[in-house]
Order: sequence, then C-alpha cells, then structure tokens
Amino acid sequence: DFKSCLFLICLLLLLIDMIRNKKPANFPPGPWPLPILGNVFTDVNYKTVDQLIEKYGNIFSLRNGNDKIVYVSGFKIVKEVLITQGENFIDRPISPLFDTLYKGRGISFNNGYSWRKQQQFAMSHLKNFGEGRKTLEEHIQRECNFLCGAFTEEQGCPFDPLVKINNAVANVIGNLVFGHRYEYDDVDFQKRLQMSAESVFLTGSVWNQLYDAFPGIMKWLPGPHQTIISNYQELSNFLKEKVEQHRPDWDSDNPRDYIDTYLTETEKRKNDSEAGFNIGSLVWSMVDLFEGGTETTTTTLRWALLFLIKYPDIQKKVRAEIEQVIGSCPPTMSDKANMPYTNAFIHEVLRKANLVPLNLARIARKDTTLGGYFIPKGTVVITNLTSVLYDKHEWETPDTFKPGHFLDSEGQFCRRNAFFAFSAGKRQCPGEYLAHMELFIFLTILLQTFSFSPPSGEEPSLESQVGFTQAPLPYKLCAHTK
Ligand code: HEM
Repeated sequence: DFKSCLFLICLLLLLIDMIRNKKPANFPPGPWPLPILGNVFTDVNYKTVDQLIEKYGNIFSLRNGNDKIVYVSGFKIVKEVLITQGENFIDRPISPLFDTLYKGRGISFNNGYSWRKQQQFAMSHLKNFGEGRKTLEEHIQRECNFLCGAFTEEQGCPFDPLVKINNAVANVIGNLVFGHRYEYDDVDFQKRLQMSAESVFLTGSVWNQLYDAFPGIMKWLPGPHQTIISNYQELSNFLKEKVEQHRPDWDSDNPRDYIDTYLTETEKRKNDSEAGFNIGSLVWSMVDLFEGGTETTTTTLRWALLFLIKYPDIQKKVRAEIEQVIGSCPPTMSDKANMPYTNAFIHEVLRKANLVPLNLARIARKDTTLGGYFIPKGTVVITNLTSVLYDKHEWETPDTFKPGHFLDSEGQFCRRNAFFAFSAGKRQCPGEYLAHMELFIFLTILLQTFSFSPPSGEEPSLESQVGFTQAPLPYKLCAHTK
C-alpha cells in the first residue's frame, strides 16, 4: 500500500545517503550529521567554532548536504594549508550560488590558469596604478581631504562615521577601476554601497549555506539568498555600463584606469583564450575589486577609529609620532618606515579586528593528509584565521589590543609570522598593498586634522556583529578640529 511504499522510498534514500556520504577512513571527526541534510543546521561561525574545536580538536569536519567541509585551526596547521601545502589548497570551491553569478569569470570565484592570469593582472594594476600620472598615493590623499571636509561639517558633534568612510573608500576603488568618484551625498551611490554591504553580510548567513546544499530547490524559493543574487547582478550591470562608456574613447597608449588597461590586455591576449580576458571577466573582476576592497577597508578604518577613542593614550602616541616625523606634510608610504608606532598600531588594528575570521574557503585539489588525517580531493577546507590572529602560542596577550605586539625591545616595527589578516600564500589577498596604503594615509591625515573622542559620558564598546566579516556594532564619535 501507499504507506509501505513511502517507507521503502525513505529507506532507500537513507541508504543512498549513507553510501554516498560515508566518511573515508581516518577522516577528521565531527558532529553526527542528519540524513540528507548533513550538519547544515550546526551553527558554526567564528564565535561558536571554539566549542566545536574543544570537542573535536583543531581539525574537525562537518557536512553541508553532500559537501565535506574540514575546519582547521591554530597557526601551525593553518600555515600548512595556506603555505606549506599551498598548491594542494590553492583552489576556491565554486559554490552553486556564486557559480550562478560568476560563471568562471573574474578572480575570487575562479581557478586554474585563468584565475592565475586574472589575479596577476589585477595585482600588477593595483601596484603600478598611476605611474607617470597622478599616483595612487595622491588619489588617496585627495579623497581623504574630502573625507576630512565631511567630518568637519559635523562640527565636533557625535556622528556615525560609517557612511562617509564607506563612500571615501569606495571612491578610491572607483578611481582605480573606472576613473570616477561620487559625492558623499549621492543618494544612488549610497544605495549601491548599502546593497554591497548587505550582500557581504548575507554571504555569511545560513541562507548561503542552504543554497549551496540544495541549489535545485533554493533557486526557486524566495528568501535572502535571492537578495545576494540580485544585489550582485545589479552591481555587475552598473560596472558593465562603465565599461561600455569607456570603450568609445579607449586609447591603449593613454590608459586612464583598470578598464582601459584591461581592454589593452584583452587585445594582447587574443590568442590566449584560456586566460579568459574578455568583457565578462573584466566586469566580474571589477565586481571582485569593488566588493573585496570596499567593505574590508571601510570596516578596518571603523575599527581603527573605535580603538583610537577607546584608548586615548594610544591615540596620543600615534599623533605624537605623526607630528614628530611628518608634521603637517601630506603623508607618503616612504614615511611609514620612520613611523614604527603608527605602523604597529595599524597592524594591531588588523590583527584584533580579525576581519575575515574564517577566511574564504579553499578546496583540496588532490588527496592529501593534514595533521595525520586523510583529506580526499574535493574536500572544502576552512582556515580559521581567528585562531591564528589570536593564537596564544604566537601572541603574548592575544585578547588585548596592544600595538606592542608588533614592536621589538628597541621600539622598532617587527612583522610577525602569524600576521594572517590578509591570509597567506599564493592565494592571499591581492589588495594587501592597497589596503595598507589606504589605512596609513587615511589614518595619518585624519589624525593630523582631528582629535577623536567618544560622545561625552559614553564608553565605547568593542562588541562585534557576526557576518561574513567581523564588523563593530554601529557607534558614534566626535571629531574635533585641532
Ligand atoms: C581575498 C582580506 C582588502 C581584493 C581576500 C582574502 C582575505 C582578504 C582574508 C582571502 C584570501 C584567501 O583565500 O586566502 C582583506 C582585508 C582587507 C582586504 C583584511 C583590508 C583591510 C582588499 C582590497 C582589495 C581586495 C583593498 C582590492 C582592491 C580581494 C580579492 C580577493 C581577496 C579580489 C580574492 C582573491 C582570490 O581569490 O584570488 N582578502 N582584503 N581586498 N581580496 Fe582582500
């Protein structure tokens, strides 16, 4: 009858599930998965991951639908994944949600030869931008002066700096990529930035996880996962328009920005189609630079200002060094070498802010072993950057904000091996150079112009909100002109 038929079907499905998802011998341990669903409801984020580590150790596994996921924690083993065995884990798993959008184009969700060529091209543009014309440093200085103007308008009253900083940082990327900046009161651009922040936030939510586990069903269901898709599509359309506007007066001898240099590269690589230089890839690598470079640097600057108002003594010390070394001159990157405390402060902000707590996922390219466990080809690997940036074997006082973590006994700057804020190895963040430049120039100019304090009587909170990136809760500060 119908009931026993249904029972038999369920049994069969369970059996298929068991055979299909049988753990290989010596696979890392983890919580018991539900049939079919796996551990999709296990709440795992950078705040809850410690409980799983305590129970199963530094290498544990979960299952999302049919996907095997291994989480690795601690400096030693994360370094093994990213650097020592870097080539085995260099690929990004292309989740169904991002595959729908990227279709193998761009940088972040691409692999193999085409990824390497697109990534190398982007990195060289980020480093060499503006050679012989207005330098990148000058662009950032100019944008920061606009930002100072916007802060001054607040006349020392409490305000949330998020929107203005986000606009300034997006303008730096905008200048680099499509040669244009937007005024801080441009409503359309503000809306676009909000949509970007929303996508980044939702990417870290269970909706993204559910889509990856059951794309066939989720594709048709309404929900926040549809917002991620529509926001990305909207951004790519906006950037595609910029490309179309550029094409008529593109001159390969006088490149204005990323679009122009990319169009030239596309011409050069006409016979190397595997490298993937085409309009689609141009648009999606612009999406990568815009998405990768805006929220991250904005949030780091917000953390930096929050630490400055939380710890006025540290603010005083950074300002004193700025006054002593450059006075009121516009800062350039060559000044940084003479400013060990400011440099240490910026590194400590990046360490403590721990912006991408569980890194971007990687996938095993071939069967391998990690810490004695077997990791089959196709296993998704999550490197817990939090556990590196806060590893108690690597940092004297990991939970305390202390620029001294990056200073030697003589007060000179020292970079630390476990500084993995931008990840590590060949697939680490290609924007590190630009991010450091922005952080140094923005913070120096802001501290040359203002002293910052919390609104009177308020104690700044260092609480953060859980998402794909770790951001401070909204807060207000006062910017007093000096
Ligand atoms: C990837 C952090 C700024 C563009 C990444 C990754 C991290 C990261 C952890 C993952 C790397 C991996 O898979 O191992 C940060 C932080 C930033 C920052 C903390 C600022 C404070 C930027 C900027 C840009 C950028 C300014 C570009 C303008 C990218 C891109 C990727 C990436 C395109 C993907 C790279 C790939 O898949 O090959 N970033 N980032 N990031 N970042 Fe950044």
